[in-house]
Amino acid sequence: MTTTMNVLVLHGPNLNLTGFREPELYGKKPLADIDADIQRLAAELSIDVRILQSNHEGVLIDTIQEHRKWANAIIINPAALTHYSYALRDALVSVRLPVIEVHLSNVHAREEFRRHSVVAPITIGQIVGLGDQGYLLALRALRATETVTP
Ligand code: DQA
Repeated sequence: MTTTMNVLVLHGPNLNLTGFREPELYGKKPLADIDADIQRLAAELSIDVRILQSNHEGVLIDTIQEHRKWANAIIINPAALTHYSYALRDALVSVRLPVIEVHLSNVHAREEFRRHSVVAPITIGQIVGLGDQGYLLALRALRATETVTP
């Protein structure tokens, strides 16, 4: 029997507008539908997920800290915070959990400032440019590699 794994999924600033905001970059699917797909796959993979979107750096940091003991891993799309938030990066390092960074768009094919992630060096991997499938691939990768910390 597969053991249950706990995964915290975080969406950063402005991702609440996914589906409406620049759909040519971020896709037409609303965040609620993306989250439903994440929940569905997680259930199939015996993963217990908690999902939060926030436009506030501090709320994301508080949530990471609060889930320090509960979570086995974190999947995060830090949105624009990716490119400059040392506070978010430090929070992710502090909790000593495996982190996968997801971006809906191909950040490397866009403006120069989006090519740099302050979060990427502390992650186990990054999935970019595959739209909302990125979250699902991240779940599968966590389950397949069993990157579970005790
Ligand atoms: C994003 C890419 C970021 O550069 C941008 O600020 C976002 C979304 C993405 O998912 O492609 O808000 O993280």
